[in-house]
Amino acid sequence: MAVAAGAIKRDAAPAGDGTTLLGEAEFRFLRDFVYEHCGIALGEHKRQLVQGRLARRLRALGLPNYAAYCALLRSDPNGELGELASAISTNVTAFFREPHHYELLENELLPQWLVHKRRDGDRLRIWSAGCSSGEEPYALAMVLAEALEKHGATGVDARILATDLSPQALETARNGVYPLDKLDGISEERRRWLLRGAGEYEGYACVHPRLRELVTVQPLNLLHDWPMRGPFDAIFCRNVVIYFDQPTKQRLFSRYAALLPAGGHLFLGHSESLHGINDDFELIGRTVYRKRA
Ligand SMILES: C[S@@+](CC[C@H](N)C(=O)[O-])C[C@H]1O[C@@H](n2cnc3c(N)ncnc32)[C@H](O)[C@@H]1O
Repeated sequence: MAVAAGAIKRDAAPAGDGTTLLGEAEFRFLRDFVYEHCGIALGEHKRQLVQGRLARRLRALGLPNYAAYCALLRSDPNGELGELASAISTNVTAFFREPHHYELLENELLPQWLVHKRRDGDRLRIWSAGCSSGEEPYALAMVLAEALEKHGATGVDARILATDLSPQALETARNGVYPLDKLDGISEERRRWLLRGAGEYEGYACVHPRLRELVTVQPLNLLHDWPMRGPFDAIFCRNVVIYFDQPTKQRLFSRYAALLPAGGHLFLGHSESLHGINDDFELIGRTVYRKRA
């Protein structure tokens, strides 16, 4: 990770020992920084939480206090942003989390899409936005790979874009190696998509090369500019906007609408909704939306 930590004075006692407190000025700076770059609105009552979550980060960087951490953010905002966002939000995910979405894809959407794509020679594109450590895009890739075979559509140009801003999450997603106890959500028939490790990889499994072919992992902050033009057939943005405030959600969902054609699908997490936020979509299933014509 490119951080300018070397520029920071390191000779004081390391932070996170219980004696370093997050002062008012530093909290205000962090609150504004996090809102601007991560869309997360931190109320005053989150000061303790921020202090606790960042203590480990200060230790890892060898910084003496929160003022030094703020100085690091000022000098290199993008270098540390992903780590900061990871520290204050959650990367929790799982293979086939919210399985009804995968069932809809497998049983209804992919069969319809593939008929058209095969006939018209069109591309198929799915975006896993906020993919965390990769379980979501690789589960999507299993369903996609199976559908391509089943519907005689292996010639269709199909890809899944997986993006996140957390450096650790992206590294795991790129490696595609998971402890065996993370595979619980994967059915017996689908275990063929995971190759069990041996030797130093005993207790781990890595994703099948075919899944890697289908998935491209890229860093991307959803609040910043996006290089992609679309169109996408579906965007999965599940359990990502939970911390975003209303204006940030409104902007984000309008941007998704611009990358989806009429009839394109947007999948949200179990506690998320477009109600009162965006009119471009209609609800067609449990947290599944379709862009209106
Ligand atoms: C709880 S995980 C959800 C993972 C997966 N979508 C799922 O539902 O299992 C939320 C992810 O969103 C990512 N995230 C949060 N804010 C983001 C932003 N502004 N840009 C990109 N990713 C973001 C976090 O880094 C985290 O990995």
